[in-house]
Amino acid sequence: MFAEKLGKQLGHPTRSVAGWLVSKLLTVGNRALEESVVQISGIQPEDTVLELGHGPGLGLQSAAKLLTAPTGHLIGLDYSAYMHQMASELMKELVASGKVTLHHCDVAAMPLVDSTVDRVFHCNCYYFWPDLKKGATEIHRVMKPGGLMVTGMKLSSVAAFAAKRVMPGENWRPDAYMTALSDSGFTDVRMEDKQHKHITFQAIYATASK
Ligand SMILES: C[S@@+](CC[C@H](N)C(=O)[O-])C[C@H]1O[C@@H](n2cnc3c(N)ncnc32)[C@H](O)[C@@H]1O
Repeated sequence: MFAEKLGKQLGHPTRSVAGWLVSKLLTVGNRALEESVVQISGIQPEDTVLELGHGPGLGLQSAAKLLTAPTGHLIGLDYSAYMHQMASELMKELVASGKVTLHHCDVAAMPLVDSTVDRVFHCNCYYFWPDLKKGATEIHRVMKPGGLMVTGMKLSSVAAFAAKRVMPGENWRPDAYMTALSDSGFTDVRMEDKQHKHITFQAIYATASK
């Protein structure tokens, strides 16, 4: 019962006591993962970068620091209204200046123009997508030819554990997501074990071939 409630909140935090606790859990538990995934994404100062399922916004903060060229632009999206508001508050100055744009939407239907994003990253997120192919196809659509997507995860994390309990099927499995990426036009899809900032995690890399 408690595990199911926690799992639902990790997949879609709402403004509630449980959602607040989850936001604290993500902030404390995933900072190093978010920062590490930003570091391994190869972000260039002039890139357009997209984070999916940003949660409280720690990865957004980290990525924004790398986009030092005037054309560098950061986009974030999350379908939790609570997480969208929390990240909007955290990033308010950069949102006001136009450097950062945040969308409250589903990965499966992004309000972004085709072939406009250089790098996509996300952490502990795909486990909660009901249709991996739909998500992967949408990511591929918005990416520029040759763009890189990096997914960071800790398969031993509370989020992965929770997703196994609340999501039907085997969508939490990395091979299920990697198959969806390959079927959606990504190439060089591979998973690596990483050690960075004193943590161990897995990273899936995929190149948007077009
Ligand atoms: C477990 S949390 C991870 C948050 C953050 N990336 C981290 O690692 O701390 C998953 C996040 O992905 C978001 N999310 C899950 N499925 C989504 C979807 N289909 N579209 C947009 N956001 C989604 C949730 O609302 C939540 O904020």
